[in-house]
Amino acid sequence: MTLRWLVATLHLLVLPLGLGAIFTRARGLAGVRQNHALGRVFAADNLWGIAAVLWIATGLWRAFGGLEKGTAYYLHDHAFVVKMGLLIVILLLEIWPMSTVIRWRIHARRGSAVDVRVAPLLARVSYAQAGLVILMVFAATAVARGYFY
Ligand code: HEM
Repeated sequence: MTLRWLVATLHLLVLPLGLGAIFTRARGLAGVRQNHALGRVFAADNLWGIAAVLWIATGLWRAFGGLEKGTAYYLHDHAFVVKMGLLIVILLLEIWPMSTVIRWRIHARRGSAVDVRVAPLLARVSYAQAGLVILMVFAATAVARGYFY
């Protein structure tokens, strides 16, 4: 019982961390061509990565580790399928910003010039991901209440 409560709490606490991180990354990317504040982008990107790992680990544990309503319930819940679909879109959208920021980190560490011309486009991708996270909250609360079961 305590484990279920603690994992549910952690799953929920990741939301302000993850949503805050992706908004900060988007804002950082939107302004990086002017202010060259790469450190802010890297820090937000780190927190976004940590949030993703915590969300997925606690979520899979809750859904398929027997802590909540059980695997069969979630696999038949339409809102859960939508929630996982939104997550897959967020992860697919993440491939480009993730690989680009990794490349920027390598250049910055070497002290060589970082080409940030694509930053405004990456900012738009990050804002879209933030919107999808908000849609996931709607799906998540529908799952918890069995609205579309
Ligand atoms: C692999 C990824 C994930 C899985 C398997 C998963 C699974 C779950 C499960 C099983 C619950 C409990 C539902 C219930 O009460 O029956 C839950 C609740 C919740 N999930 Fe996730 N989750 C995942 C990712 C996320 C992400 C990325 C978000 C961010 C928006 C999120 C937001 C929530 C929220 C807000 C709740 C609480 C809903 C409520 O009690 O009203 N989850 N999740």
